[in-house]
Amino acid sequence: MLYSIYRKSEKLILVKMRWYTFLLISILTTRSISAEIYPKFPKDFIFGVSTSAYQIEGAWNVSGKSENIWDHVTHNYPSVIEDRSNADVACDAYHNIDNDVRLIRELGVDSYRFSISWSRILPDGFSNNLNPDGVRYYNELIDKLLANNIQPFITLFHGDLPNCLQLLGGFTNIKVADYFVSYARLMFDTFGDRVKYWTTFNEPKNFCARAVWGNSEQLTVAENISPYLCVYTVLIAHAKAYEVYKNEFAHQNGKLGIVLDLLWAEPKTNSTKDIEAANRIIEFEFGIYANPIFSKEGDFPTIVKDRVANMSKAQGFEESRLPALTKDEINLIRSSADFLAINHYSTRLISDDSDNINISISSQANDVAVISSVDPSWPTSEMEWLFYVPWGFHKNLMYIKNKYDNPSVYITENGFCEKASNDQGRIKYLQGYLQVLSDAISEGCNILGYFQWSLMDNFEWFAGYTKKFGLYEVNFTDPKRPRKPRASVKWYKDFLLNAKSNV
Ligand SMILES: *[C@@H]1O[C@H](CO)[C@@H](O)[C@H](O)[C@H]1NC(C)=O
Ligand SMILES: *[C@@H]1O[C@H](CO)[C@@H](O)[C@H](O)[C@H]1NC(C)=O
Ligand SMILES: *[C@@H]1O[C@H](CO)[C@@H](O)[C@H](O)[C@H]1NC(C)=O
Ligand SMILES: *[C@@H]1O[C@H](CO)[C@@H](O)[C@H](O)[C@H]1NC(C)=O
Ligand SMILES: *[C@@H]1O[C@H](CO)[C@@H](O)[C@H](O)[C@H]1NC(C)=O
Repeated sequence: MLYSIYRKSEKLILVKMRWYTFLLISILTTRSISAEIYPKFPKDFIFGVSTSAYQIEGAWNVSGKSENIWDHVTHNYPSVIEDRSNADVACDAYHNIDNDVRLIRELGVDSYRFSISWSRILPDGFSNNLNPDGVRYYNELIDKLLANNIQPFITLFHGDLPNCLQLLGGFTNIKVADYFVSYARLMFDTFGDRVKYWTTFNEPKNFCARAVWGNSEQLTVAENISPYLCVYTVLIAHAKAYEVYKNEFAHQNGKLGIVLDLLWAEPKTNSTKDIEAANRIIEFEFGIYANPIFSKEGDFPTIVKDRVANMSKAQGFEESRLPALTKDEINLIRSSADFLAINHYSTRLISDDSDNINISISSQANDVAVISSVDPSWPTSEMEWLFYVPWGFHKNLMYIKNKYDNPSVYITENGFCEKASNDQGRIKYLQGYLQVLSDAISEGCNILGYFQWSLMDNFEWFAGYTKKFGLYEVNFTDPKRPRKPRASVKWYKDFLLNAKSNV
């Protein structure tokens, strides 16, 4: 009897063990699969999705909005755009707030990064003429986001300067720094009661490379000097806007940063020359903004100052083509950010080209003197410069940690270019890049948020509508501009659910 009971309970135990073992094994298996596909993130990490005003809003000439430089260029020089298109209508996001906020909410993100169109808010560029419809539009967007528990993350300038200010020289004119600060103050004052995340400029490297354009048959003039004048104006404008935010709006308890982009630069060989060349292009493209703001000593990187000064001298200029910062300016700019925002997409290989410098050509490219290439084994996208190289993202993040004393970082853009609805390349890219992001956080990088680029297909600057970065596909020939989820929408949603439950 006892025996049989024993046998019985033994059997029972066996059965239970089997059941529990099976459960345990299946939990472990699911865990290991989801740990592989869905990397872990800290509980308070912010996930989001990103867009910009000119690329999605449309409504280029409604209710008081004035022409910006992209309106002007696409209308007057359509041949510079791959498909001769413009963003007059784009995704018509201006008329689709409800629908788009619903899509954003359905993704399950914490935050939405968008930019304010300066020429919609201030049609004259100056703060004396505030356009009520611009205020209404962004108020509506901000309030709907907050009603859905989504934090607005605002970029004040994403490439679309009011054309009237371009006619004054755009960012080559140092007075434009003051006009930007007036605009920024007005935005803090108008929206800052509800908006806690601000960035001043998006990817100055890119708009400064074409700082003088839109007011001439040529899109680029004074290439040798205008990018450096623009760098100077942007840094002063950013730092003064930060000062205004801290002095006049501290009670709003928000944070302000700047968005810098960097394609990681890997030396093509281990020769000293190539290692120096890779370091040099990082300093010219990224350090020229990051060093004045995020380094302890401030100012431009020494290599950039020396090199431009030497080249300028050899070219017969009286002073360096790169403006020198005064002591006061260095102090104003240093530490003028609560965080560093990074747009990262891909990596290139860099080799030295110093031996081929033609000294009679004064240009930024000649100052840097490198050759850029890629590894033919890197998986491609439909954008010529975008390759799948997650380890380059990891190196980029470690570089920032080590070089700038581990600043607070938000990744404000990262994404892939692929047209197909079944966008397996985009899913693979997000898996790979989010994994190394998670690794970098485990290795001590102070990264606080990540924004996928982009919510939906949009006007991709010079590529027009030929390149697709959207989680949502947009039909640009349908007047209603319907948005249709690609496979990556489901992937990102699932990822977000797991990234959170994994903690
Ligand atoms: C606005 O621009 C569109 C072209 O995108 C044009 O058809 C329309 O007439 C313009 N409206 C006004 C009020 O200028
Ligand atoms: C450079 O050296 C490192 C460390 O020895 C090695 O891992 C890397 O593969 C080398 N790179 C090239 C391009 O040879
Ligand atoms: C600039 O020129 C000086 C004097 O000729 C030289 O010592 C220095 O190495 C040069 N620096 C760079 C970065 O080319
Ligand atoms: C250097 O550039 C100048 C100006 O563009 C050009 O006239 C000259 O032929 C170039 N020299 C060499 C060696 O390529
Ligand atoms: C896009 O919209 C147009 C106009 O409504 C329609 O003819 C076309 O079939 C749509 N394209 C796709 C891929 O759905």
